[in-house]
Amino acid sequence: MKILCLNGSPRKKGNTAKIAERFCETAEILGNKVKIVALRKLKYQGCIACGACKKKSEKCVLKDDLSDILKKMDKYDVVVFGSPVYYGDLCSQMKAFIDRTYSYLTSDYKSRLTPGKTLVMILPQGDTDEKHFADIFPRYFEFFKWYGFKDGYSIRACGADEKDGKTMEKALKEAEELAAKISMAK
Ligand SMILES: Cc1cc2nc3c(=O)[nH]c(=O)nc-3n(C[C@H](O)[C@H](O)[C@H](O)COP(=O)(O)O)c2cc1C
Repeated sequence: MKILCLNGSPRKKGNTAKIAERFCETAEILGNKVKIVALRKLKYQGCIACGACKKKSEKCVLKDDLSDILKKMDKYDVVVFGSPVYYGDLCSQMKAFIDRTYSYLTSDYKSRLTPGKTLVMILPQGDTDEKHFADIFPRYFEFFKWYGFKDGYSIRACGADEKDGKTMEKALKEAEELAAKISMAK
């Protein structure tokens, strides 16, 4: 299986990176091919609503560091999005990437992607209450189902910054278990 992992966190060694790395390491050990991309290293903008991807082009016409990733995403079976929760949503780095995936829809809003992919979202947050921001994953998964994604999973770490490290320990274990589950399913 081929796995693409995009980390939207601006923190190189932050909670998102730790969970994403654990997921990817486990998946690699289990024989999958994994590519990790740190969005913080790239220069890009969000969708400019030019409409070119609905009229004259089958892909996003903006030329920046996302062009190559957007072009290649269809080659992957599993797509992992890592984002810290910022103001009750994804961080802007990840949101801008997702807005650019608008180019995966044709003029009649059908998906240009190969169906059957799996989405994983890694979502650490400062707040310890799991009820807070529980809407993020289902809200975005709806859009990815529209793109033809089949399965979707989230790894949340509610209270990821707590000093005792228990929340992160649990999330890292979940990352290992989910990587194993997805590897066995395919
Ligand atoms: C700009 C900003 C906004 C944030 N907004 C929220 C929020 O709405 N809810 C929350 O629980 N945590 C919030 N946090 C805390 C982060 O989600 C938390 O520290 C997370 O573990 C950071 O992940 P990282 O280490 O991968 O960057 C915010 C942090 C920043 C810097």
